[in-house]
Amino acid sequence: MVHACRATSTVEYASSKLLRDVPFLQAEPDGKHSLAGVARTQLRPLFPSPTTMFALQHKLQEEHTMQTRAFGRDPHQVSLLGFGAQRIVDEHDCTEEEAIAIIRRAVEQGVNYFDTAPSYSAGQSETRVGLGLEGLRDRVWLATKTGGRTRDLALRDLEGSLKRLKTDYVNEWRIHNVMQPHDLEAIFAKGGVLEAMLEAREQGLVKKISISGHTDPRLLAEAIRRFPFDSALVALSALDHFIYSFAHEFVPLAVEKGVAVIGMKVMALGKLAPWTEQALRYTWSLPVSTAILGVSKMDELEADLQAARHFQPMDDIERVAFFQEIMPLVKADVLRWKAGEWMSGEWYRLPQLSFDA
Ligand SMILES: NC(=O)c1ccc[n+]([C@@H]2O[C@H](COP(=O)([O-])OP(=O)(O)OC[C@H]3O[C@@H](n4cnc5c(N)ncnc54)[C@H](OP(=O)(O)O)[C@@H]3O)[C@@H](O)[C@H]2O)c1
Repeated sequence: MVHACRATSTVEYASSKLLRDVPFLQAEPDGKHSLAGVARTQLRPLFPSPTTMFALQHKLQEEHTMQTRAFGRDPHQVSLLGFGAQRIVDEHDCTEEEAIAIIRRAVEQGVNYFDTAPSYSAGQSETRVGLGLEGLRDRVWLATKTGGRTRDLALRDLEGSLKRLKTDYVNEWRIHNVMQPHDLEAIFAKGGVLEAMLEAREQGLVKKISISGHTDPRLLAEAIRRFPFDSALVALSALDHFIYSFAHEFVPLAVEKGVAVIGMKVMALGKLAPWTEQALRYTWSLPVSTAILGVSKMDELEADLQAARHFQPMDDIERVAFFQEIMPLVKADVLRWKAGEWMSGEWYRLPQLSFDA
């Protein structure tokens, strides 16, 4: 009985979806019938077999299922797949038209988390996010950043970001790229960027305060010990697992403190592309709220959506097998974000740190 009811509602849903998607079914020539009537009279012959129904039901599920997770201390649900907007720019051979199409397809498929920054292609990424999200702003969580280390520079950044993003607030404002101890000191100094963050939050221009880094997990751990940041964007690819590991040295503390963790470098700047599904599964199996993927092409988005729809946590045996395959990539010219200079081949020499207890 229950099954029969489900089947009926699925038929109705399928019918209404087809009515939306298939132009010739959208209007009755004589306008006499309601949409439901059209569905009953015209669509019944289209679904004669249970096999077809099952296939359609599966397709509908595929199109609409996106898992969500809480944002650290905040129960607000963000999509497992997050959108990293750094690469939807001319510099990465993505036109404005393509960028807008990719953004809108992502939202339509349940992606509700967007990350950008004013420094990405001198504001072009933010401008395109603003254009792509026109009319959709209320459906997404929008994060941008500041590279400024002083209050004044940061507030100037925010003013520009809000204009380009065509919004009067962002859900999350992030301190960009904390790499060295002097970054950390500057954040907390008098007149430092944290003052701008608190002021902007007070004024309702930003809702959450965040920090990011992909080099030294100890600096980010110290930052969240000093201040109750709402979130942190950190490097969490499977290759990051092996050296200066945020998964080991940062995530447990973040979880303990209720700091939302957002994963990046998931594709190791493209080096893990042959293992897209495993790369995503590895990161999503960590206690992250979301992971942002730096897509620049529609087919990359589709691959990531597909992985999100079918996500199952990676078990230990799968993880070890994956590690065995990718181990040869654990080297400085691949893990460039952890090397001292881009492409230098030298491992970044982590400074000696000593923080007051
Ligand atoms: N400190 C910070 O706060 C910081 C730093 C860097 C990035 N970010 C953010 O993180 C986002 C992600 O960047 P990332 O550096 O972490 O990049 P990533 O995910 O490690 O690599 C993205 C690159 O992988 C390649 N790729 C191949 N298949 C892909 C697929 N299915 N999905 C996505 N990418 C695929 C693409 O390069 P090709 O098209 O060339 O193959 C793409 O440009 C950025 O957009 C940005 O928003 C933040």
